[in-house]
Amino acid sequence: MNILSIETSCDETAVSVVEALGDFPTAKYEILGNALFSQIETHREYGGVFPTLAKREHAATLVPMLEKALTEADLPHTGNPVMTQSQKEEVQKILEREPGLADQLLTFFESYDTPDIGLIAVTAGPGLEPALWVGVNFAKALAQMWNVPVIAVNHMEGHVLASVFDGQHIAQLSFPVLSLLVSGGHTEFIKMDSWKKYEKVGQTRDDAVGEAFDKVARLLGLPYPGGPEISRLAEYAREKALPNYAKLPRPMLDSGDLDMSFSGLKTAVRYAIAEKELTEDETAALARDFEDATVDVLIKKTNAAIDQYNIQSLILGGGVSANKYLREKLKAFCLLEHPDLTLHLPDTKLSTDNSIMIALAGHAHASEALTPQEAESSIRAEGNRSITQESSKS
Ligand code: KG4
Ligand code: ZN
Repeated sequence: MNILSIETSCDETAVSVVEALGDFPTAKYEILGNALFSQIETHREYGGVFPTLAKREHAATLVPMLEKALTEADLPHTGNPVMTQSQKEEVQKILEREPGLADQLLTFFESYDTPDIGLIAVTAGPGLEPALWVGVNFAKALAQMWNVPVIAVNHMEGHVLASVFDGQHIAQLSFPVLSLLVSGGHTEFIKMDSWKKYEKVGQTRDDAVGEAFDKVARLLGLPYPGGPEISRLAEYAREKALPNYAKLPRPMLDSGDLDMSFSGLKTAVRYAIAEKELTEDETAALARDFEDATVDVLIKKTNAAIDQYNIQSLILGGGVSANKYLREKLKAFCLLEHPDLTLHLPDTKLSTDNSIMIALAGHAHASEALTPQEAESSIRAEGNRSITQESSKS
C-alpha cells in the first residue's frame, strides 16, 4: 500500500509518499517521495512562529510539495479522471477558507491523473490549530477526488515512530518502553506496555524544552529557532573550556514524580544576564550552562522513570532530539547506568518535523481509517490532541 502523508502542524510544510509492504509494526517501508519546505526564514524576523502566517504559507506551499513528492515517487496511475462539476464544487467547499489553495489544487487535478495511493495520513494535532486545519482540509479534498480513505494522525505518535525507524523497518521493542518526547510544544514521558498503548507518566508543568531553548536564545540575542543556535554556542564553550558564567538551577529534581519545569531555568538565565552586555564568550558560556542544566534534568528524570517502571527500551523523540549534546549524554548515561536497555534515537533528518513519521503513524492506525465522506464530516484539527487519546481506539 502506498501512503500519502501530510504534515502542517507548525512551521514545516511536508508531504511524502511511503510504500508499506506488510502490517505494522513488521512492515517493510520504502520512502518513494519526500518533500519538505521549512518556513523558518519567514518566521525568523518575528522571533517565533506566527500561526496565521504559518497557515498562509502552508496554503501556498502544499500543492508544490504534493507535486514534488508525487513526481519523485513516480507511481503508476489509474487513468485520467474527468473532473465533474460536482467534484470541483466539493473541493471548493472543503477548501472554502483557502480559495487560493482550492484553485491551485483544481489546476493540479486537471493535469495529474489519480495516483496509486491507498491511504492518506494527515496530522490532526497537537499543533497550531490554524496551521493544522490547512493540512486536514487539504487531505479531505484529496480523499474526495481520489476516493481514498483518510487517517487522522497524532503528531507526537509520529515523533515516537520516527525515533524507531531505520529508513525501512520499525525496530523491535522490548516492553515496557519509555518515550521522552521533547519538542517545541511538548515535553513528556510516555510509557508503552505494548504498541499503541500510550500512558503519560510525566510532563513539564510549564514550558516545553524546545520552547525554553527558543526563549533563552532570544534572551541571548540569537535568532529563531534557538535550539540549534544554543547547541552551536554551547559546543564552542565546551571546546574552549570556558568557565561557568552562571550557576543555574535544576528545577524539580526532588519533586518525587516525573514532572518537570523549565520556565524557572529560563528566568534564571534572564537574571544572569540582567542588564549586562555579554561578550561572545560569556554568551557561549551561558548557553552551555543552560544546556547543561536542561540535559541534566532530562537525564535524571529519565533515570527515575526507568527505575520506576522497569523500562526495557528508551526512545528519545521530538525536535530537541536533534540536540547533539543531549544525544551524546543520553547514550553515555544508558551505557553506564542501564547497559541492558536499548536506546532509540531518531536519524537527525527525522528528529524535527517531517511527514515520513506521519505516514508511519498513519500505517499503525490504518485499520481505523475513514471513508472520504466520514473524514469530511468528522476529522477535526485539534491543537491539544493528546497521544493517550490514540490508545483507546485500537
Ligand atoms: O518537533 P519540532 O520540530 O516541532 C514541534 O513539534 O514543536 O521541534 C521544534 C523544536 C524547537 O523548539 C527547536 O528549537 C528545537 O526543537 N530544536 C532543538 C534543536 N533543533 C531543534 N533544540 C535543541 N537543540 C537542537 N539542535
Ligand atoms: Zn514536532
